[in-house]
Amino acid sequence: MKDPRKTIASGDTAPYQFSIMNEPLIPQKTPFVQETPAGAHFWCACGRSKTQPFCDGSHKGTGFGPLRVEVPQSRRIAWCGCKHTANKPFCDGSHSGLK
Ligand code: FES
Repeated sequence: MKDPRKTIASGDTAPYQFSIMNEPLIPQKTPFVQETPAGAHFWCACGRSKTQPFCDGSHKGTGFGPLRVEVPQSRRIAWCGCKHTANKPFCDGSHSGLK
């Protein structure tokens, strides 16, 4: 059975198309600042989610997965939007150094 993460396109100059990602996508170069209710949240690490900053399952097949965060009480959080923070899942200002 073929690996579903690879496809061969006839006549294509690049014979293999891989969905495994080395780097996350960058949804935005600013944080997602929002009031966040207490409870478990799943921060999107791949950057593909359409419900940023949280996972919607779009990471499937990328090699990335969400980061589970337990928020003990409701508060305003600056979630990393560039996916390059060194303090996952929170913004650390890394977006300012991205090209
Ligand atoms: S959609 Fe990005 S980690 Fe799940």
